[in-house]
Amino acid sequence: MTTKVTAAEIAAQKEFARRVRELNCAREEPPVAHVHSFGCQQNVSDGEKIKGMLADMGYGFSNTADGADLVLFNTCAVRENAEDRVFGNLGALKHNKKQKPDMLIGVCGCMVQQEHITERIKKSFPYVDMVFGTHVLHTLPQLVYEAMTTHKRQISIPQMDGVIAEGLPLRRESGLKASIPIMYGCNNFCTYCIVPYVRGRERSRDPEEIVSEARCLVEQGYKELLLLGQNVNSYGRGTDVNFPELLRRINAIPGEFKICYMSSHPKDATRELIDTIAECEKVTRHFPLPVQSGSSRILKLMNRSYTREHYLELINYAKERIPDVALTSDIIVGFPGETYEDFQETLSLIREVKYDSLFTFIYSPRKGTKAAEMPDPISQEEKGKWFRELLEVQQEIGCSSYHNYIGRTLRVLCEGPGRTRDGCLTGKSIQNIIVDFDGDKSLIGSFVDVKITDALNWALIGELVKEN
Ligand code: SAH
Ligand code: SF4
Ligand code: F3S
Repeated sequence: MTTKVTAAEIAAQKEFARRVRELNCAREEPPVAHVHSFGCQQNVSDGEKIKGMLADMGYGFSNTADGADLVLFNTCAVRENAEDRVFGNLGALKHNKKQKPDMLIGVCGCMVQQEHITERIKKSFPYVDMVFGTHVLHTLPQLVYEAMTTHKRQISIPQMDGVIAEGLPLRRESGLKASIPIMYGCNNFCTYCIVPYVRGRERSRDPEEIVSEARCLVEQGYKELLLLGQNVNSYGRGTDVNFPELLRRINAIPGEFKICYMSSHPKDATRELIDTIAECEKVTRHFPLPVQSGSSRILKLMNRSYTREHYLELINYAKERIPDVALTSDIIVGFPGETYEDFQETLSLIREVKYDSLFTFIYSPRKGTKAAEMPDPISQEEKGKWFRELLEVQQEIGCSSYHNYIGRTLRVLCEGPGRTRDGCLTGKSIQNIIVDFDGDKSLIGSFVDVKITDALNWALIGELVKEN
């Protein structure tokens, strides 16, 4: 059952925000907040809501914690190194708090939904004023108000299936690209993954809310909409608007813009989805389909609910229906019990699919997940070797597939200054590939045609095609 935060609750939070704003107005200098979102796009999107609420409370923003009146870390728990970074950054704040005792420090997001982490923060970081979980993000105004007026530590981490809060203020990071969460949480319980434990059960937003948000963004001039969910392919399960239908409805909004999405789970990716991508001209020709492993034996241990063969069938259908499709995937190396032979199956799958790019990770045990209890005899050193072998194989493939674009003309959304040459511009094609080209800065924010003349392993280089 999906629980919506009531309009009355949102209004009550607005009232807390007003009170904080009043307190902030009485300060000599306008207060400044530093918000750092770690982890995935979902967290970045939550960060935009956090900033929206803080702006409502009268805060300006700073890119650094130094001198800030409020620092908030919106954390990620997906791998151990993500958590280590947060603890490192939190440790460094001790000095800031000493210099500015009335500053507020908060930690929120996925990490704090885990009890052992909250206990560690309580014990080792006494200068943290607010700790709150992923299900109560919308109560930030109340937490700040209480922390400011009572000077007591605020801890709010209810364990629940999760809620949907509509109507929160937003402060978007870009005027060109906008994220739209279409669903929250995850039901898949891949055995290595902490996300279902820290984000709660899967819940989809109403399609009307999503389409009207998308329409508003296009009217405001946004050129790229990124639809977010841990498994967008199970959007709207049990209703008459599934993910392909949602794509069709957004595609029908007038104007030139690009529709991207992440993440897509192979077990719920259908031929209907691939047909929809092929038919909807605004949907990116980028098909991110995280395989994780090329061995059916490991996929079973991962609880991914598909086999290597099923995955390859989907990929082949996508290549057939969308000839210029760009394929990407996430890969985990060194899952418990994985042998070198299993790993070789991943390499052979990568060679067969010919991905444009990969996001690669060494398995990191997560407390409370099933995989963390499985025997894991391979050493970190050995896993490191496999990982480097994987990167080498991908480098060859990524490079060769980019060369195939030379001579073609791609439609590119120009996003800003590029990195390959002084004064060049950069953007992304409808396949989501970085394209650098020379042109006037006035093109930033518009779609242009670029003829590809060269390929690096991470980007394409081209020349602007002059309009007739
Ligand atoms: N919902 C998305 C991914 C979320 S996490 C999906 O299913 O595709 C992003 C990526 O992090 C995963 O695809 C996986 O490759 C990686 N990941 C998740 N848990 C991990 C772990 N414990 N160790 C290493 N990598 C992990
Ligand atoms: Fe994690 Fe699997 Fe859910 Fe993705 S689908 S968030 S990998 S449990
Ligand atoms: Fe990390 Fe939470 Fe995203 S664990 S990957 S920030 S959903």
